[in-house]
Amino acid sequence: MDRTAQLTARRTERSIAYDPPPSAGSLHLRAAHVLEGNWTGTSTVPSPSLYPHQWSWDSAFIAIGLRHVSPLRAQTELETLLAAQWGDGRIPHIVFNPSVPLDAYFPSPDFWRSSTAGRAAGAPRTVQTSGIVQPPVHALAAWLVHCADPGLSRARGFLTRVYPRLAAWHRYLLHRRDLGGGGLASVVHPWEQGMDNSPCWDAPLSRVTPAPARSFRRADLDHGAAEDRPTDLDYGRYVRLATDYRDGEYADGGAEFAVEDPSFNALLIASEHALARIAHELGATGTARHARAERLTAALVERLWDPAEGMFFCRDVRGGEMIPERSVSGLVPLLLPGLPHGIAAALVRTARGPHFGLGDSTRLVPSYDLLGEAFDPHRYWRGPAWFNTSWLLERGLRLHGEQARAEALRQAVLDTADATGFAEYVDPYTGEACGATGFSWTAALTLDLLHGPSGHSVSVTGIGTFDMSDKGGDRG
Ligand code: SER
Repeated sequence: MDRTAQLTARRTERSIAYDPPPSAGSLHLRAAHVLEGNWTGTSTVPSPSLYPHQWSWDSAFIAIGLRHVSPLRAQTELETLLAAQWGDGRIPHIVFNPSVPLDAYFPSPDFWRSSTAGRAAGAPRTVQTSGIVQPPVHALAAWLVHCADPGLSRARGFLTRVYPRLAAWHRYLLHRRDLGGGGLASVVHPWEQGMDNSPCWDAPLSRVTPAPARSFRRADLDHGAAEDRPTDLDYGRYVRLATDYRDGEYADGGAEFAVEDPSFNALLIASEHALARIAHELGATGTARHARAERLTAALVERLWDPAEGMFFCRDVRGGEMIPERSVSGLVPLLLPGLPHGIAAALVRTARGPHFGLGDSTRLVPSYDLLGEAFDPHRYWRGPAWFNTSWLLERGLRLHGEQARAEALRQAVLDTADATGFAEYVDPYTGEACGATGFSWTAALTLDLLHGPSGHSVSVTGIGTFDMSDKGGDRG
C-alpha cells in the first residue's frame, strides 16, 4: 500500500472505530481502542512489548474482529501478511517490522535469515520473515472479512487478490507437509501449532538436544513473568529445531519434530470450506474444495480421534505413536460441520467433564487437562485459558446445536476480557490475567462476540445459517 492509501485507510478507520453499537457500550470502545493502539499503519502487533511484529494466526483472528470497526483495515491486515508469502506457498509465522530494534524480540530476523537461507523456498526479498508457519486461519478470516462489507471487498478486488495466495498456502500444507502420509498436515516446530509449550510436545521434544543457553538471549522475559512463560529448557529446544530447519534451508521432510495436530488440521479444514465459499463468490462452484474438506475431516477422524477418551489427540509422526495428553487442541475440531454427530456429542461431554470443566469449575476452556500431571494454571499453554480457543469452541457449540452452552461461554469470554483489560491468557479457575494485557486477538474476538448474533445457528465455515442483514453479524 502506498503512503497516501495508508493515510486514507487510517483516517477512514479512525472515524469508524469510535462508533460502537449502543447495546455494546464501552467494552466495544475499549476493544476498538486496543486495536487502534496496536495498529502500525499496515498491520496490528499482538502486543507492542511482548510481540512487536506481525504474527500470522494473530493477524487472522485480529482481522475477524477488526472487520467490525474497519473492514478496510481488516482487509489490509490480511493483505500485508499475504504479501510476505514465500514462493513455495508458506505464510511465515512472523513478518518483521524493520523499524523495531533487533533485540526487542528473539528470534529476530538475523536468526531466521529468510532472504538467504530461505531462498530455495522462495522467501520474499522485500520483507524479512521467519521461516516456520502458524495455523491456517487465514481463508476463514478472509471470508468473514469479505462478508462484513461485500461492496467494499468487491470494489477493491479483495477476494480476487487473496484467493490465489490462500490456495497456494493450502497446497503447501497439504502436499509439502503431509509428512505422515495420511493426508493431514504436520507441524515441524511447536511454534507452528501456536500452543508453544503444550505438554503434547514434551515427548517429541525430549528427543531434541537443546541449543546451549549461552547461544541466545530470550527477549520475552523482559516483558512477561518467567512463571507465565515457557521454561529455558523448552526454549533451548525451540531454538535447536528452528536452527536446524533454517540450516536445512527450510526444506520439509527431514524434520526431527513432526506432529499431526487436531487443531491445526481442523483450522485447515475450516479454512478449506471458507476457500470454497470464496471460490463460489468468484464464480467457480467451490464443490471440489468442500469435498476435499470432507475428505480431510474423515482423515482427521481416522488418524486422530480416540473414541474411548472422547477427544482428538496428536500423532507423533517421528515417534510413530499417539500422544496421550489432553489438550484443548483435541476439542477444537468441534468447529467442523462435517463431524459425525456422535463425535460432536462426545466432544461436548469431554469439554464439560472433569478434564476441562466447561460450565462447571472453569471460566474459560483451559488449554490443557485440569487433571494432567503437567497442568499449571499460569504457564502459557500448560493450563491457562486463551480467548481464541474459547472463541473457536463457542462457534463449535453453536454449530452443533448447543446454544445455551455457547451463550454461556460467549458471556464468560466477554466478562473475562473486560475484567482483565484484554489479557493474553488467564488462570482458567480464577480468571486472573497472565502474560500481556491489551492483547490484540483478545480485543478482536471480544468485538466479534459483541457483534455476533447470539442464540441462533451459525457456522464458522460458511455452511450454516448466513445472515447478510447484519454486515458484522455474518459469522458464517
Ligand atoms: N509464540 C512464540 C513466542 O512467544 C513464537 O511465536 O515468541
